[in-house]
Amino acid sequence: MTSYRIAVLGGDGIGPEVIAEALKVCRAAGAELDTVDYDLGARRYLSSGEVLPDSVLDELRRVDAILLGAVGSPAVPPGVLERGLLLKLRFELDLYINLRPFQSSARGVDLAVVRENTEGSYTGEGGFLRRGTPHEVATQGSVNTRFGVERCIRFAFDLARSRDRHHLTLVHKTNVLTFSGDLWQRTFDQVAAEYPDVTTAYNHVDAACIYLVESPLRYDVIVTDNLFGDILTDLAGAVSGGIGLAASANLNPARTGPSLFEPVHGSAPDIAGTGRANPLAAIISASMMLEFLGETGAADRITKAVSDYRQQSHTEVGASTSQIGDAIAERV
Ligand code: IPM
Ligand code: MN
Repeated sequence: MTSYRIAVLGGDGIGPEVIAEALKVCRAAGAELDTVDYDLGARRYLSSGEVLPDSVLDELRRVDAILLGAVGSPAVPPGVLERGLLLKLRFELDLYINLRPFQSSARGVDLAVVRENTEGSYTGEGGFLRRGTPHEVATQGSVNTRFGVERCIRFAFDLARSRDRHHLTLVHKTNVLTFSGDLWQRTFDQVAAEYPDVTTAYNHVDAACIYLVESPLRYDVIVTDNLFGDILTDLAGAVSGGIGLAASANLNPARTGPSLFEPVHGSAPDIAGTGRANPLAAIISASMMLEFLGETGAADRITKAVSDYRQQSHTEVGASTSQIGDAIAERV
C-alpha cells in the first residue's frame, strides 16, 4: 500500500483521544500513514494567541489529508476557533463539500447529506452599524454563487448515481428565500436534466426536519446549503444513533489540495480524560479519509467492522474509548 502523509490535528478535549483510536484502527486495517501532529486549537490559542499561523497553513496545503479531532474550550470566546481555524481551513483549502453519511440498521436509515461548505451564511459577509447603541444594526448575508452551488449539486448527483437508490432531494426554503432559493432550484433542475437515471425531490427545510424524524427512509442523498446542512446533520445524527457516530468529510473533490476529515461532535471538555468518549465518529471519518485516498479495501473493512460492532455492542454497554477502538481494530 502507498504511504500517505497525514496531518493530525487532535485538538482539545476528547479530540486527541478519539483520533488516537481512529489511527489505531486505520493501521490495523493495513493503512500506511506517515502522521505529523499539529498543535492547534484552544490550548495553543490560550498559551500563544495563535490560531492558524500562515506557515502552518502552508504546510497543511502539502499533505495528502488532514484528520481533525475537535477544537474548542469554554475559555475561548465564540467565533475565534470556528472562524479562525475550522472555517479558515474549509475556505482556504476550498473544501467545498461537507459530506455526512448516516446509517442505522436498527431504523433502516441509510442517507448522506451533501452540505455546501464554502458559501451561504458562513462567508462572514455583513457587519455592524452603531454597535452597542439602541440604534444598532447587524447584517449577516448569505452568499450563493452559481459556480459554488453548481459544483455542489453536481457532486450530489454523482454521489446519488453511485448509490443503490439513485435518489436526490434538494432541501432549501425557496418559499421565503426567493433569491438564493431560486438560484439553488434552477441550478438543481438544470443539472438534473443531465442525470435522467437519478430521481429527484424537493423539501422545504422545516418539512425536512419532520421527515427526518418521522420517515427518514424516504431519503437517499440530500443536497443543501451550508447553514441548513449544519442544522440538518445534527438532527440526522440524533435520529440515526447519536452524535457519537456522526462522521464528516470536508472534501476538495477537484483535489487541488488535501481534504479534511473530522467527527461532527465537539471537544466535550466535560468528559475529556474519562475514557467515556465514543471514538466511532472519528473512526468512520478516518475510513472516509482512506476511501477518498483510494484505499477502498481498508475503508470497507473499517465500515464493516463498525457496523458489526454496533450490532453486537448492546452487549458491551460502558466500553471505554480505547476498548471500542480495540474492538474495531480486532474486527478489521
Ligand atoms: C460543524 C460545526 C461547525 C459548523 C462550527 C464549529 C463552525 O458545527 O462542523 O457542523 O457550523 O460548520
Ligand atoms: Mn454543526
